[in-house]
Amino acid sequence: MKFFADTAEIDEIRELADTGLLDGVTTNPSLIHKSGRNFLEVVREIAGVVAGPVSAEVVALDHEGMMREAEVLRKLGDNIAIKVPLTPAGLKTCKALTGDGSMVNVTLCFSAAQALLAAKAGATFISPFVGRHDDVGFDGMSLIADIRLIYDNYDFDTQILVASVRHPMHVVESAKIGADVMTAPPKIIWQLFKHPLTDSGIAGFLKDWEQTGQKIV
Ligand code: G3P
Repeated sequence: MKFFADTAEIDEIRELADTGLLDGVTTNPSLIHKSGRNFLEVVREIAGVVAGPVSAEVVALDHEGMMREAEVLRKLGDNIAIKVPLTPAGLKTCKALTGDGSMVNVTLCFSAAQALLAAKAGATFISPFVGRHDDVGFDGMSLIADIRLIYDNYDFDTQILVASVRHPMHVVESAKIGADVMTAPPKIIWQLFKHPLTDSGIAGFLKDWEQTGQKIV
């Protein structure tokens, strides 16, 4: 499963990229607002730091407007994935852009029916929001399982990009279901490394090693 960072904070992206485990980045208008940066500048910078796909979202609601914005966004780097909302205009734009060789991430997906439409429109990525689904009393992970089943039934190439990830178990469950990608805030990606037994194990080994009086180098 690929790991994307869901953030527009360049320092956090650099730190994660340094682990060698970061496969891409997703942004959205709220994350751009939070960063306080100029949208085009920060996306260009991110696309230069990460080799994998970097999602940049259109804000127009009509097809022509989305196409005009996508034209600007795709010039920010060879690895830009244009993010469009799951609406009729968004899917029309998705079809036009993927037909033209661009990567497209269809966002704000909350149902298996929507995910089926996005795959038919040739989406590179479909972004079901598991956390927001859980928030309103639905089971976000069962949506991922349904989409996996449908995509496998028809051999759709669209990659399931689990979004709105809120905790490490969302990541583990996504991997068990066979999602292709997950995007999470950096804090959650760092939490994946953590286990108290790893920390106490290191402390115990180092204490005993000191007693040997030896050095490796
Ligand atoms: O980029 C989309 C997404 O991951 C949103 O997450 O936490 O705002 O629901 P959240």
